Amino acid sequence: MAEKRRDSFKSNLGVILALVGSAIGLGNLWRFPYLVGTNGGAAFIIIYLLCILFLCMPIMVCEFVIGRRSQANTFGAFKKLAPGTGWKYTGTLAVITCVILLSFYVVVGGWTIDYFIKSLRMVFTPETDFATEFNNMVSSTSENVFYTLLFLVCTAGVIVAGVKNGIERTNKYLMSALAALIVFIVIYAMTLPGAKQGLNFLFHPDFSKVTFRTVLSALGQGFLSLSIGCGAIITYASYANRKDNLLKTTTITTLSDTMFALLAGMAILPAVFSAGMDPSEGAGLAFISLPYIFANMSFGKVLSIIFYFILFAAALSSSISLMETVVAFLKEEYKKSRFGSMLIMLGITTVFAVFCALSFGVLSGFKILGFTFFDLFDYVSSNICLATCALLVCLFAGWRIKKEHFYDEITSGGKYKIPKWLLGTLRVFVRYIAPVIVAIIIVNSLIGL
Ligand code: PFF
Repeated sequence: MAEKRRDSFKSNLGVILALVGSAIGLGNLWRFPYLVGTNGGAAFIIIYLLCILFLCMPIMVCEFVIGRRSQANTFGAFKKLAPGTGWKYTGTLAVITCVILLSFYVVVGGWTIDYFIKSLRMVFTPETDFATEFNNMVSSTSENVFYTLLFLVCTAGVIVAGVKNGIERTNKYLMSALAALIVFIVIYAMTLPGAKQGLNFLFHPDFSKVTFRTVLSALGQGFLSLSIGCGAIITYASYANRKDNLLKTTTITTLSDTMFALLAGMAILPAVFSAGMDPSEGAGLAFISLPYIFANMSFGKVLSIIFYFILFAAALSSSISLMETVVAFLKEEYKKSRFGSMLIMLGITTVFAVFCALSFGVLSGFKILGFTFFDLFDYVSSNICLATCALLVCLFAGWRIKKEHFYDEITSGGKYKIPKWLLGTLRVFVRYIAPVIVAIIIVNSLIGL
């Protein structure tokens, strides 16, 4: 049988690191700190944690169940578990979501390489006008497109090396480096004069800034940050072993991702306050405010190199999972080689990514529904596609997969006995609560279009 020769991870640690690698990304380092900054500090964090615990984790478990039970790519998984039905189109949607997400993700990934190299070359000085520097970079056709493609090629290089030698090994190195470097930066940040103010901001809630939009942003951020709703977890779970307990794997992945987001906040906000800047700066925080801060602080040059390396490593480990989801689909559904599948994916993403990159420059006047390409891809994938897939995944796991099979997947592996009440509660969330809330979000996002 073909399944015998399917790719798989060598160890449970490999699965966990790959999932953590997929989860920890630009969402944690670039998006989370500015969402906290603009949404009432700790008030946002509290809402975010509730969303993670009660909605994102149950949906992640569903993706895990679907992937490991089917041992197939995200399209094949639905086809195998519900043969002859339209459920397989959920897999199609997941694959499309990955392509859209990857197309704009690699543009920001390219910026991280660009800023990393500029930090190494020490081109930033206290006199640099960072807003102009950033705008020049993103609007320059050659620079922006070059680094976008470079980042894409790095991702493809890992994919072509395979699941064990490429994905598992790369994540092992990148995640160890990330953990060590972020702790180092946080320790340094704690010595800054703005440390107390930064921590205060991070851990004291200001509920006056909380609106319904805050809740929507928190949940959207939860999906994006945990890589829910695009088949990446289904794909990685399909490479996992039945001896691994999936509740344990889900919990470790969620905790690591959340810890990392908080550490990113603890690293960045003290620096922002020390420089007397406003934490609600928005998306420019990582590429305009922070380089300014680094250029003006002692050891800033070294910290800047470390920070952009962290950003690059986190972005790479995430984009790997996005590309692998599509490559696994092409490989298994169209019987292509890994290399051939990678080339097809590379070709498609290159076209879309170049459009996204150019939407800051020559194509900035080209708008669809009032959005540039980049913004449209970001909005549609983060706010609509992820949530729609998540909703379908929930309905599938809750209503289509048999209760015994659902419980069997969750309880298999590991030495812990999962209490019955926990299983029952989880199923209630998956069948009733999560679908209703996610549907509300999708309607709201569609209204925002
Ligand atoms: N989790 C990633 C981040 O926080 O940046 C984004 C992402 C990666 C989403 C991979 C989905 C995915 F499949």
